[in-house]
Amino acid sequence: MYHVVKKRLLATGIALLEVNAPAVAAKVEPGQFVIVRMDELSERIPLTVMDFDREKGTITIVIQDVGYSSAIITGMNEGDEFQDFVGPLGVASEIENYGTVVCIGGGLGIAPVHPIARALKEAGNHVISVLGSRSADLLILEDEMRAASSEVVIATNDGSQGVKGFVTDGLAEVLAQGHQVKAIWAIGPMIMMKAVVDYTRSLGIKTIVSMNPIMVDGTGMCGACRISVGNETKFACVDGPEFDGHLVDFDLAMKRLAFYKDEENRAKARLEC
Ligand code: FES
Repeated sequence: MYHVVKKRLLATGIALLEVNAPAVAAKVEPGQFVIVRMDELSERIPLTVMDFDREKGTITIVIQDVGYSSAIITGMNEGDEFQDFVGPLGVASEIENYGTVVCIGGGLGIAPVHPIARALKEAGNHVISVLGSRSADLLILEDEMRAASSEVVIATNDGSQGVKGFVTDGLAEVLAQGHQVKAIWAIGPMIMMKAVVDYTRSLGIKTIVSMNPIMVDGTGMCGACRISVGNETKFACVDGPEFDGHLVDFDLAMKRLAFYKDEENRAKARLEC
């Protein structure tokens, strides 16, 4: 039932999959996620929704080949099926008319920021998107983000496109232009989100991050996704995934995320044998 309707390779090892999932597509809102599983022995992979089409009944996800299961999913083709495609999960983004907002997407984080930017623009905001990647060839979804935003600033680490540096350098350029930014969404690797909130804390700009810890059940029962927010334990799957970035303990979150790195590397190596 959850078959791939369309597949597009966005960059080396990064695939966009449009999946037939009418019940999820009927209810999903920007900021929410799904948990997918290839078969009953596979691990459950949480993926934030990149796009949805209620009429066609499809959900679009973007996945990068970084481990055993993600390599299998990245290799799926049109017609291939997921056994489970559960969602929508998590709390939707708070979309309202704030005025001028910045949507920051780093690497694969550009995918989940896409529907949020689009909804914020539809709500009347002036949406400036800052997109970051290591180099121009790894920058994904530029056209989609241009359509979803009022303005786009690009930052690449090697300077092959846009500002040379990190998304914080792109954000600095936006702020230097005198924009009165009322809120920022920042989604990407944890180290990137930490850098953004460290930068915006002193500026007093509300900064929302989308946390991507290890998840198992996705329903608040197992505790695998627990993070510390404002010195309180929160479950990213039911309390988030979005949180006030200035309150998140990123050092703890990054330590927990690295917990199973050795097992992940061993599993990936088995797949490559
Ligand atoms: Fe189990 Fe969140 S994934 S509590």
